Amino acid sequence: MKRKIPKEYKLKKGWFLNKEFYVNKRVHIPRKNTEPLVKFAVEYIKRNKKRVVCADIGTGMGAIAISLILRSSFIKKVFATDIYSGAISVTRENIRKYNLKNKVIVKKGDLLKPIKNEKIDIIIANLPHASKEIFKKKKYLLFEHKKATLAGESGLEILESFLKQLSKDKYLKQISGIFLKISPTKKEESVKLIEKYLPNSNIKIKKDYERKNRFLIIQ
Ligand SMILES: C[S@@+](CC[C@H](N)C(=O)[O-])C[C@H]1O[C@@H](n2cnc3c(N)ncnc32)[C@H](O)[C@@H]1O
Repeated sequence: MKRKIPKEYKLKKGWFLNKEFYVNKRVHIPRKNTEPLVKFAVEYIKRNKKRVVCADIGTGMGAIAISLILRSSFIKKVFATDIYSGAISVTRENIRKYNLKNKVIVKKGDLLKPIKNEKIDIIIANLPHASKEIFKKKKYLLFEHKKATLAGESGLEILESFLKQLSKDKYLKQISGIFLKISPTKKEESVKLIEKYLPNSNIKIKKDYERKNRFLIIQ
């Protein structure tokens, strides 16, 4: 069966946590099932009652970074990073739309490399996590940029690169929480990778609106 082009690409608009974002074909369409990730991070930050700096890695259209700032006065600023310049220009457009130029700082580059000299307290990331098999099976993904969804043969390659970078001392110094969206079918493998690269961490698994194990919180 042939699928139609998603309405978000036709309208050049997508919605995330009740806010509207500019989107085009260079970015991943915001997903309802990503929203709890922001809610978990905001609740955690509120409980700790400390002003923090966050980083949204693989920001795409910037919805996670912008929603964090809009939802928590404890967040001083958010660094929003992406490797793809097409996504970076869409992020900038959304930062202008919400007038957050001083609060959401965009940086282009591979995973954590653009923020290696920054002091980050909390990381939130919805990195590409589709395996080749899923990528072929889910026809709607074909409309989106491959770099936004595909993560190698297994779907774990980008998560592994992220953890490898993170395991280097310079990144871990002051990070108190990492909030990740994963593929529910790769929960065990994702947890094993975290245990390999961050052996002393405490890992919590959280569910999405459909009760699927879609989020990992590392402390
Ligand atoms: C699944 S999309 C998520 C977009 C957005 N954060 C969201 O939740 O809708 C993954 C994003 O990661 C970016 N990305 C892929 N590889 C990357 C890398 N090595 N470093 C930084 N960003 C990367 C892609 O360009 C894409 O925007």
